[in-house]
Amino acid sequence: MKAHIVVLPGDGIGPEVTNAAQQVLDKVSSQFGHDFQMDEHLMGGVSIDQYGVALTDETLADCLDADAVLLGAVGGLKWDDPNAKVRPEQGLLTLRKEMGLFANLRPVSTHPKLQESSPLKNDRLKDVDILVVRELTGGIYYGEPSCRSIDQDGKMRAVDSMVYWDYEVKRIVQLACNLARDRQCKVTSVDKANILESSRLWRQIASDVANDHPLISFNHLLVDAAAMHLITKPSNFDVLVTSNMFGDILTDEASVLTGSMGNLPSASVGDSGPGLYEPIHGSAPDIAGKGIANPIGMILSAALLLRHSLQLEQEAICIETAVSLALDDGCRTIDLQEENALSTQQMTKAIISRLEKNIT
Ligand code: IPM
Ligand code: MG
Repeated sequence: MKAHIVVLPGDGIGPEVTNAAQQVLDKVSSQFGHDFQMDEHLMGGVSIDQYGVALTDETLADCLDADAVLLGAVGGLKWDDPNAKVRPEQGLLTLRKEMGLFANLRPVSTHPKLQESSPLKNDRLKDVDILVVRELTGGIYYGEPSCRSIDQDGKMRAVDSMVYWDYEVKRIVQLACNLARDRQCKVTSVDKANILESSRLWRQIASDVANDHPLISFNHLLVDAAAMHLITKPSNFDVLVTSNMFGDILTDEASVLTGSMGNLPSASVGDSGPGLYEPIHGSAPDIAGKGIANPIGMILSAALLLRHSLQLEQEAICIETAVSLALDDGCRTIDLQEENALSTQQMTKAIISRLEKNIT
């Protein structure tokens, strides 16, 4: 298969982990006889430095034209001035919106051998297999007004707006129900309907969608309770569907179950067109450039790219199996284990060597 993949390494550890995923994709393409054309562009802070904007029109056009986009991470202290007019994160938000990627799929499952890497009690970590379906192009990330003002006495005020349209809720909850059919047929919709009007609309529309899916066991949960249940009884969840910001927060929390935020991949998809694949972690400026970042979330994102955008299921499974085998054999980056930790490159090599064995 021939495919055009746009690669946006971004900032901080982004380039290091993206390089790892590219090595894995190169190996898969040579072993399976594919031709992946990978084009790199600047995005985020590095694009601001070079072009004055976080995402140029050319880069956006190339992404829209690609079969899929692979992204590392954006952001960093250098661009963190609260008064800055341009921010690295704007590039990512524009990209998600312009590509129509309303759904962000974040699978969270625990690997038995990584229980020691999690600060949580081991018995809680058994049989955890959650798919978080995060709404990605609406809610407080995009709502207007979003602004600041200063009154005559110098008092400052800032506003963000959580806005949801009925059709935005409908399509994301529908997707969650459809995905649940291939899993345990259980959907938990998470909101804050006791307080927020946008959540009351969310709950109403979600209930309507649930009525159309009689085979799905559907329930609503308030986000504060969901945050607690994710830690106290994580194996009760199957598919968790929620709004943009709640999904962002709950997935960082859920990543603790797996031992590290560095382990988690994500796939952002829309109705059609290319998908965007990125780990859930950020640019981790504190460890950037040291060659010690965990490449697993990024490598598993590449697997999701093969599965969702290129329909290469067997290749995706090969990557996922190789990661799992490397973990079985005790390969760990420093976020998972401080002693005898592997570098990003050593971990990548460990995964690639198991990939090769797996295929041949
Ligand atoms: C994520 C990140 C982003 C988000 C940031 C970098 C804009 O935290 O993908 O989870 O909040 O969506
Ligand atoms: Mg996040």
